[in-house]
Amino acid sequence: MKGLILSGGKGTRLRPFTYTGAKQLVPVANKPVLFYAIEDLVEAGITEIGIVVGDTGDQVREAVGDGARFGAQVCYIEQDAPRGIAHGIKIARHFIGDDAFVLFLGDNFIRDGIAAQVAAFRHGAMNAQIILHKMDDPSSMGVAVLDERGRVARLVEKPKQFVSPYAVIGIYMFDHRVFEAVNSIQPSARGELEITDTIQYLIDARLAVCAHLLEGWWIDTGKMSDILEANRLVLDILEPKNEGQVNGDSRIEGRVVLQNGAVVVNSTVRGPAIIGERTRIENAYVGPYTSIYHDCLIQDCEIEHSVVLENSQIVDAPARIADSLIGRNVEITRTGGNTKTLKMMVGDHSKVGIL
Ligand code: G1P
Repeated sequence: MKGLILSGGKGTRLRPFTYTGAKQLVPVANKPVLFYAIEDLVEAGITEIGIVVGDTGDQVREAVGDGARFGAQVCYIEQDAPRGIAHGIKIARHFIGDDAFVLFLGDNFIRDGIAAQVAAFRHGAMNAQIILHKMDDPSSMGVAVLDERGRVARLVEKPKQFVSPYAVIGIYMFDHRVFEAVNSIQPSARGELEITDTIQYLIDARLAVCAHLLEGWWIDTGKMSDILEANRLVLDILEPKNEGQVNGDSRIEGRVVLQNGAVVVNSTVRGPAIIGERTRIENAYVGPYTSIYHDCLIQDCEIEHSVVLENSQIVDAPARIADSLIGRNVEITRTGGNTKTLKMMVGDHSKVGIL
């Protein structure tokens, strides 16, 4: 089997980060979301991987390279515009050939990997397998309606009225019959070739479309609250490790990872937390569920339940920072002076909460 990861799209729900960066490269516990997808495929024995890229293709290429560090061979497939998930399959025909494959949306994230589902698909004489996640409100997702015997009867994309609690997550398995489907369907009202229409085509053609109900957690990391949640969930299962230095009167409490070259001086880091490579924490408090990425400086301030991206500095912040997602190359400092003035340069679509 091969792997096909979609890593295009505009990431509108994660602006402003996605003005300059691919949403699939936003780190969760200091590792880009996309890397978890690659690792899941490799763990399931799939090492020939194609990544469909769009505007942010150069960044994705630079981050992933040829895949050797993951034990995979990665190639890239250009998509000229976000024309839908099924369009991503269509343009990958050359790469896939007649093989069966796993389609993995690069912003989807599951705890337990996909090895079990891939094994079931390999041995199960199926044409397609979808993975379902039971949700109270799946209205922002593709949804599967099951018949009385638990088989997939029909799929509805983002249903306005409740039809079923079973959201279809962004990890699918197909054999070559899917190409007939993607070449037959028409663009939807949002102008995209929909994956739900593709699978519906297979159901209508009476092919074997099976569903696997997911037990562990799943997250589509498309918006900020999802990133914080994914970060919490991964930090909770991370093995503590110290590849950095802890100096002076510092305390490291609970489950903490200090990556290579991280330095903690006169500070408390209370896990679960991860401190990135060459990042310096000085006279500071880093509280639970915080990921500080590489090359940051956190000095004379308090931060918890937050994600900070690379090369950012937070120095002498007057209040504790919490529940925040802070981008790359950001500087948060005190301006000094006696007046209660806030001096800011905040990018488009940013959100700032003030005391
Ligand atoms: C897409 C699919 C939807 C699926 C979801 C999984 O939604 O269209 O069927 O449930 O991915 O993440 P989109 O991200 O385009 O809103």
